[in-house]
Amino acid sequence: MASISQLIQIIYSSRPFGYDDAILNGVLLDARRCNARDNVTGALVCRQDVYLQLLEGPEAVVQATCDRIKRDDRHVEMIVRVTENVTERLFGDWAMFHDPAQSWIWSAQDISDGALDQASSEAFKTVFETIAAKAR
Ligand SMILES: Cc1cc2nc3c(=O)[nH]c(=O)nc-3n(C[C@H](O)[C@H](O)[C@H](O)COP(=O)(O)O)c2cc1C
Repeated sequence: MASISQLIQIIYSSRPFGYDDAILNGVLLDARRCNARDNVTGALVCRQDVYLQLLEGPEAVVQATCDRIKRDDRHVEMIVRVTENVTERLFGDWAMFHDPAQSWIWSAQDISDGALDQASSEAFKTVFETIAAKAR
């Protein structure tokens, strides 16, 4: 019997580099194409000043996906905020759910004041739990 791979979730933040609709659409196209192939799911919160992404799936493919994303020059300052083993996916039906960052997430001012570096991993998880509840 094939071994069951451990499911993990990773949440990272980064700063868009050259953000516009065309770039965002390209990112989402790449994400959905690769994730459908790799059995990865998740959500991407995007705004001019921030990307927040949750990736989930078998550990090895999620790590490989993160390594590719880290090399992508469409963003900078990628920092992993949460890595944890989970038993269920939050976005099982979504190769990459897209959420334009809303006002209930940190404001642009908060972010430029360093809010992400002060936030707990629980705070990052709450962002995605709230989005997943909306996505259902
Ligand atoms: C903000 C952001 C999010 C991304 N999300 C994903 C993703 O969820 N899955 C993925 O495979 N690639 C994602 N990408 C694209 C990867 O960086 C990369 O272009 C893609 O995986 C194809 O890799 P390759 O060109 O080495 O084949 C993302 C890129 C950015 C900038």
